Amino acid sequence: MSAETPARKKLFVKTYGCQMNVYDSTRMADALAPEGYDEAATPEEADLVLLNTCHIREKAAEKVYSDLGRIRKMAEARKAEGGAGVIVGVAGCVAQAEGAEILRRQPMVDFVVGPQAYHRLPELVREARAPGPKRVDTDFPVEDKFEALPKIPRRQTGPTAFLTVQEGCDKFCAFCVVPYTRGAEYSRPVAKLLAEAEALTASGAREITLLGQNVNAYHGEGPDGDIWGLARLLEALAAMEGIARLRYITSHPRDMSEDLIAAHGSIPKLMPYLHLPVQAGSDRILKAMNRKHTAAEYVAIIDRCRAARPDLAVSGDFIVGFPGETEADFRDTLALVERVGYAQAYSFAYSPRPGTPAADLPQVSEAEKADRLQRLQALLVKQQQEFAQSRLGMEVEVLLERPGRKPGQMVGRSPWLQGVHLDAPAGLAGRLVRARITEVRANSLAAEWIDAEASAA
Ligand code: SAH
Ligand code: SF4
Ligand code: F3S
Repeated sequence: MSAETPARKKLFVKTYGCQMNVYDSTRMADALAPEGYDEAATPEEADLVLLNTCHIREKAAEKVYSDLGRIRKMAEARKAEGGAGVIVGVAGCVAQAEGAEILRRQPMVDFVVGPQAYHRLPELVREARAPGPKRVDTDFPVEDKFEALPKIPRRQTGPTAFLTVQEGCDKFCAFCVVPYTRGAEYSRPVAKLLAEAEALTASGAREITLLGQNVNAYHGEGPDGDIWGLARLLEALAAMEGIARLRYITSHPRDMSEDLIAAHGSIPKLMPYLHLPVQAGSDRILKAMNRKHTAAEYVAIIDRCRAARPDLAVSGDFIVGFPGETEADFRDTLALVERVGYAQAYSFAYSPRPGTPAADLPQVSEAEKADRLQRLQALLVKQQQEFAQSRLGMEVEVLLERPGRKPGQMVGRSPWLQGVHLDAPAGLAGRLVRARITEVRANSLAAEWIDAEASAA
């Protein structure tokens, strides 16, 4: 390497948890690019390893410590061979929740940074490379981290992209760490979001998924000085030519406003897919969870969304074994699932989280939780298969994303977020094509290509 070439370094980011973390990881890489960091494919070749962590369930949080143990062994082996050292930073929700405790449990960690302080990463990394005390940056600073991060999401490649429009949560469900790890609800201003969406489409995005821990609580400042809700934001984005598809996650039933429900019928680019967690079907448990709605209210919302968009695929989240949940309560959950009919869903055994109200209540046994989870999942898998089967023979639009595993094969997504495999030219990546569903597999659909969209962008 010549003396003039600035030394390029390598960064490896491991992402745990939700899509918000996926988005944040790309923004962290953006923030470190001007510091000379390119991305590494593995931690072995990295000079800087960042773990972007999740605290939602105990298993997710503990995984971070086992991974740190592995990274320590790798770093020691590298040192023994005379190789370069590695800087290790812990980011994300475990960083926010545990702070300095992480340094105590794993002293090889160089710094800890919470989700609201990523714009300070360059400084933290520079400090970590010099001798001195280790930094734990878990403030919720007043400055806007989105503003301080590079404007153009540099790493955007491919036809689908995430865009964080809202962050944090004020709901305080009794089981959940998110209001503590992500802080209070904050909505980004509309103008900033339109500019970021413009940049995303300019670099090839055709489908944008709006992200927020409580995305349908979005209430950002509009360019007209009014406060815009999510429906209005979706309308403005749908007017952008480069955007073919819009989605949003994750929503709370309480914030499913009439105009947002109507948007599912009036905005064709808004895909017929709604992820609306309910958690439980028993009103007693919903109340104990502090969900602020009943099972009947939830079902009524789903019915109204389906009236607006009859082909809507409904997805949800469920927790079994919340403290105090009886067999009868659990059966209410099964009954709600039967009533709604889910196209897709996530379900979890309740995991007590330190600092949340439900952690201190008398707990349901692990055996009962496992039994209920297994019964619920059997029903949800059956519904998912039924939904997939109902697509058989249908002509659908597929947004082609990337080459598949087999030569000549492309992979994309149906309007209902199902993975679709079909034989099509690789040059069609990023295009919407018409295809007929020919086969339903365990986790995806197979299709035959009919033709590409008329209005190719
Ligand atoms: N903001 C979203 C998602 C929060 S976390 C929402 O409000 O729905 C994603 C899911 O993890 C939750 O919907 C819930 O089903 C699950 N979850 C959260 N805390 C949990 C806990 N302590 N134990 C088990 N599952 C949990
Ligand atoms: Fe957690 Fe409830 Fe907020 Fe969702 S709404 S992030 S489950 S506290
Ligand atoms: Fe996990 Fe934090 Fe997302 S706890 S689910 S990474 S908001």
